[in-house]
Amino acid sequence: MQVPELLGAFPDGLTAREICDRLAVHPHRGWKFLHLLAMMGLLAEENGERGEYDAVYRLSDQSKEFFGEYGTEGYFFRDLVNYWRNVAILPTVEVLRGMVLPNAVRWPPQGKAAAEHLETWMRVTAGGAIKTLTTSGAVEGVQHLLDVGGGDGTVGRALLDYYPDLKVTVFNLPDSAYLARQFIAEWKCGDRMAVHEGDFLKDELPTGFDGVLLSRVVTDYTPKTCLMLFEKAHRALEGNGRLIINEALVDGNNDYAISWEFRYLFYDTFGRAAFKSLAVYQSLLEDAGFDVVDVSPMLDDAFYSVIQAVPKR
Ligand SMILES: C[S@@+](CC[C@H](N)C(=O)[O-])C[C@H]1O[C@@H](n2cnc3c(N)ncnc32)[C@H](O)[C@@H]1O
Repeated sequence: MQVPELLGAFPDGLTAREICDRLAVHPHRGWKFLHLLAMMGLLAEENGERGEYDAVYRLSDQSKEFFGEYGTEGYFFRDLVNYWRNVAILPTVEVLRGMVLPNAVRWPPQGKAAAEHLETWMRVTAGGAIKTLTTSGAVEGVQHLLDVGGGDGTVGRALLDYYPDLKVTVFNLPDSAYLARQFIAEWKCGDRMAVHEGDFLKDELPTGFDGVLLSRVVTDYTPKTCLMLFEKAHRALEGNGRLIINEALVDGNNDYAISWEFRYLFYDTFGRAAFKSLAVYQSLLEDAGFDVVDVSPMLDDAFYSVIQAVPKR
């Protein structure tokens, strides 16, 4: 209905009547809906207690968190709502019986449009991931980082600013690799960033790196696939290299993990037990020939933890 966009353009707010008129909403039902949003904390309300038509509504601080100051942002939230629209009408028992799912999301993304959708989502949420990485100090001293599943290069590009001697190679599937090349050209940082196209489910990773980064990649894959990927990362590392995993763990994120594991019920191409605890990662890394040397906790503004592991000596 575009309530955030409308109210974002009117910082002093609009009356219920004005909002209903502008959005072409039934005035009585629209009023109730606005009041409900205010009760939920999504709108700030003045004079609504007696059902007045001149009650004034504006974006609350909470809604600005979701939709931005002007009500025009909120990519992640809008995508979530879109997902709920798709699955809310599906009968869960029938889904469990194997009902063929319309609009099923495929993983990894298939085709240019799906890759653009994913990488846009990753780009707008990259701030927290970059912050946990840089706060952890895990990339400190790394000369050449292989950013596996490195999105459109946004995270790698941000790391260049923090670490002046760093070079980053983004490893990604062809459609995302194409996006990364476009951004690298735009950022004019081809002297420090490169792209290596590949599919880590099939291909070996390129070798000769003293850092391999997996940022927000392993949660999308089942533990068995993660083990295979960690073994490939092991082979990609040279000398005193380290593997850096920047990921949401189940530990401390149980509600978030439950909501995603529910979501994955409807997405067959996502593996089982995608959300993993630190203990599971530790045992997988151990099996792949790594020692975990550091685990940085989540920050207040991002729910990723950073695990550093080095090949066993
Ligand atoms: C959730 S995004 C994370 C992007 C980025 N690392 C970040 O933190 O913003 C997962 C990334 O992994 C890539 N990816 C998924 N499966 C892959 C595969 N089999 N081979 C290579 N890249 C893959 C996706 O294209 C995407 O860029």
